[in-house]
Amino acid sequence: MLVDRDGRVGVVTLNRPRVLNALSPALMAELSQALAAFDADPEVRAAVLTGGPRVFAAGADIGDMSDRSPVDQLQRDQTGRWAGIAAFTKPLIAAVNGYALGGGCELALICDLIVAGDSARFGQPEINLGIIPGAGGTQRWPRTVGKYVAMEVNLGGAPITAQRAYQLGLVNRVVPAEVTVDIARQVAAQLAEKAPVALRLAKESVNQALELPLGEGLAVERKNFYFLFATEDQKEGMRAFLEKRRAQFRGR
Ligand code: CAA
Repeated sequence: MLVDRDGRVGVVTLNRPRVLNALSPALMAELSQALAAFDADPEVRAAVLTGGPRVFAAGADIGDMSDRSPVDQLQRDQTGRWAGIAAFTKPLIAAVNGYALGGGCELALICDLIVAGDSARFGQPEINLGIIPGAGGTQRWPRTVGKYVAMEVNLGGAPITAQRAYQLGLVNRVVPAEVTVDIARQVAAQLAEKAPVALRLAKESVNQALELPLGEGLAVERKNFYFLFATEDQKEGMRAFLEKRRAQFRGR
């Protein structure tokens, strides 16, 4: 994996091109570590996750999985460890070119926004291997696109195009493949200008909408809203508006 910083934006690039960025346990461990380091670094305010210009990720590493027993799977709890990635508190933008299949698609769906190149293909082909998705495919698809497309993708195993994903609301933008990563960096850089604590609580509140009944979700939102009045950034943001200048947010 490649890790770099571009101002306030952290960028991680999955880099196993020979196997289409198949998600080996070692690669996923590196990804978790990189995101944890970004989370701990106040200079980083948003991150981009990409597989580069050709492929996002063709799923979990089938070679690594093929001979495992259920007990091996339980003890390794490989996909359980992905919870650490979902717990990343800053905006995480997926820049997807080419295949995002199986675990690769599930990884994109963990992200907060998805910028797709016109070459992108999203799918859950696990059914063709005699298994089902194990890192959220059967759960995040229906929450995003509804039951029927989720059934088509999870039962049928065929990928959908970037354009269809856009029509379904699965991706935010479709752009020419050669600029996907640049556009995702720009989106992340724009978010990195916002107030960091408000960003974190906005992300948390939206994610809670997928977990909670409406009344409880509204209560989470309300408490986060009230809490933000304890931040210097709320004072700065409102003062800057009234003084007709650009706010300087410090994450305090
Ligand atoms: N694991 C391990 N190796 C993989 C891989 C994977 N998921 N996907 C591709 N590769 C390897 C291929 O074996 C091949 O290696 P060799 O050159 O050594 O033979 C190399 O990457 C290039 O792949 P192809 O020659 O197959 O490339 P292609 O362009 O003809 O096809 C593809 C591309 C349609 C993506 C095809 O590679 C494919 O179907 N891959 C598997 C996709 C898949 O089933 N993913 C789900 C995995 S299970 C999972 O992810 C579970 C979960 O929920 C966490």
